[in-house]
Amino acid sequence: MSIRNFRMLTPVQRRIFFLVTILATLMAANTLYLVFAGHLAGIGRDPEVLPGIYQWMLVIHVTFGILTFAAAAGFAATHVARVYRIRKLPSRYTGITVVAAIAVLLLSGFFILSEANSRENAWIFLAHQLVALLIAAS
Ligand code: HEM
Repeated sequence: MSIRNFRMLTPVQRRIFFLVTILATLMAANTLYLVFAGHLAGIGRDPEVLPGIYQWMLVIHVTFGILTFAAAAGFAATHVARVYRIRKLPSRYTGITVVAAIAVLLLSGFFILSEANSRENAWIFLAHQLVALLIAAS
């Protein structure tokens, strides 16, 4: 977001935007750890042996992931009337895509949690990873 656009936000929106940025940064660092631990360090291959730090990082992942979605949805809710009024189509689509992507992460994340990260559920885990990759790349 440019400085000019940032100035157009209300003080409350600026605070929520700042919160979303902090949460997203923490999520990025946390997710990098999960990727490193799972794919390079081999943690999780034996589910009976999960280091405490990995378990904590997973709890933080889920908690901050939910908070990130809540904050992003809150920002969108306070912002939607204005975006609709000024009819800036690209901004509208960007906003909808970001909130939809985080909603997919939330839903797929809960699915993985409740149904387990099994072979049958590999597709939903892949969807979770791909959407996260899309957000990181954009
Ligand atoms: C901003 C939001 C999120 C991002 C960017 C994100 C990203 C990721 C990524 C990339 C992985 C794969 C790690 C790997 O390959 O080892 C992952 C794993 C996982 N995520 Fe998320 N996620 C988010 C939100 C959530 C939420 C809200 C939940 C739960 C409600 C969740 C639950 C999980 C679970 C259970 C795993 C599997 C961990 C494992 O078994 O190794 N995620 N997440």
